[in-house]
Amino acid sequence: MTRESWHTRVGFILAAVGSAVGLGNIWRFPWMTAENGGSAFLVVYLAIILLVGVPGLLAEFVIGRRSQRNPAGALYRLSGSKSWGAVGLFGVVTGIVLLSFYSVVGGWILRYFLASFTGSYFGSPGAYFEAIDFGASAVGYHVAFLGLTALIVLGGVRDGIEKATKVMMPAIVVLLVALAAWAVSQPGAGAGLSFYLDFDAAYLQDNFADVVGAAAGQALFTLSLGVGTMITYASYLGDDHDLAFDGAAIAVLNTGVGVLAGLVVFPLLFATFGELTGPAAGGGPGALFVSIAGAFSQVPFGEVLAVLFFGVIALAALSSSISMLEIPVAYLVDEHGASRRSATLGLAGLVLLTGSVNALNPGLFTFVSGPLVDLMLTAGLAGFLVFVGWVLGRDALAEFDSGAGRATKSLGPAWLWSVRTILPLFLLATLALNLLALAGVSVF
Ligand code: TRP
Repeated sequence: MTRESWHTRVGFILAAVGSAVGLGNIWRFPWMTAENGGSAFLVVYLAIILLVGVPGLLAEFVIGRRSQRNPAGALYRLSGSKSWGAVGLFGVVTGIVLLSFYSVVGGWILRYFLASFTGSYFGSPGAYFEAIDFGASAVGYHVAFLGLTALIVLGGVRDGIEKATKVMMPAIVVLLVALAAWAVSQPGAGAGLSFYLDFDAAYLQDNFADVVGAAAGQALFTLSLGVGTMITYASYLGDDHDLAFDGAAIAVLNTGVGVLAGLVVFPLLFATFGELTGPAAGGGPGALFVSIAGAFSQVPFGEVLAVLFFGVIALAALSSSISMLEIPVAYLVDEHGASRRSATLGLAGLVLLTGSVNALNPGLFTFVSGPLVDLMLTAGLAGFLVFVGWVLGRDALAEFDSGAGRATKSLGPAWLWSVRTILPLFLLATLALNLLALAGVSVF
């Protein structure tokens, strides 16, 4: 049987953007920007995306396209070493861990999307969220969200993932633009814009190390790096692609969606409440499910707007969750001869259980969604980078020399040099900070 592949180049780009655009863009990125110096933070963030994010993305693309395999099979086959195969397998496991918490949040979103039609949380959004966040109903919606994820992955690379993301991604952009246009035209929205984007260089200067650390973590998470999603997606590519161009396009689109999300949430919150109060001030789930949800209850046609808003987030979450599930599915299909159907159903069954444990246990959920995932992503990407830099080495450059890739070929050696040196060091420093944080030691 021939291995699956993307139908079109745009299909691949949109699927990868779909993986990148997710909860990270809509609830993490806007708050991080607002809290860390506004547009001054954006400058630092863009530099990190360019210097760490895009080269990291290219490293995963190179592994995937060169091997035409899932992460575990890819590292094993390209090196002939079982230990490197284990590094790839670590990514496969991370994918399962990631989906086990992401699907719980996806479930909350699905629930808010449905509840927006009737405005059931409009009366008291705080109490509503507290009643549903963990427990039996959270399990139910997690299972529903996971079911949708599995349904798309069951369809396969072309007829499932590619077809779905080709519709979802344009829909997300169109709806977000419309929502942002509406939000910024509300009276009082200006205060939200300045809270979000005012250039606060002083904050940046005083907290530079923290800000760079936070921006680096966000850059990895938002570009879906360190797990092997991008290895897996690139493994369905032929060699007629300019990887560098595709990587840059994905990074630009992903950042654009994050910026747009901020143009919806801050104008909305300030136009409605005049300031950030309660859960909104801290970012995180409360900001979305209590404060923003509450803001919709205050505006005319709030139900319609809330349906659109939570609809956008549901699409964004779904286009990411399918990329998490696809990693272990590809692993079972490539390495163990499983059919896509049995691999998808088996893994969905597993995540049904692991996700339910998260949905019932707030302490575990907080640990998994925060420090554990941060640690696993950083360690995973460091492994992939060392692999590309020192095991593939100059062979990796051949991937810049194919098809349309000629234009970017000259950048190859600089890329390889940074993949060998700067990037792993940068990640090891981040990893050390993560480990210390996990042990409860505060360095700064
Ligand atoms: N990038 C997604 C977001 O911003 C999350 C995500 C999807 C992800 N696939 C991933 C994160 C793989 C890390 C690794 O929500």
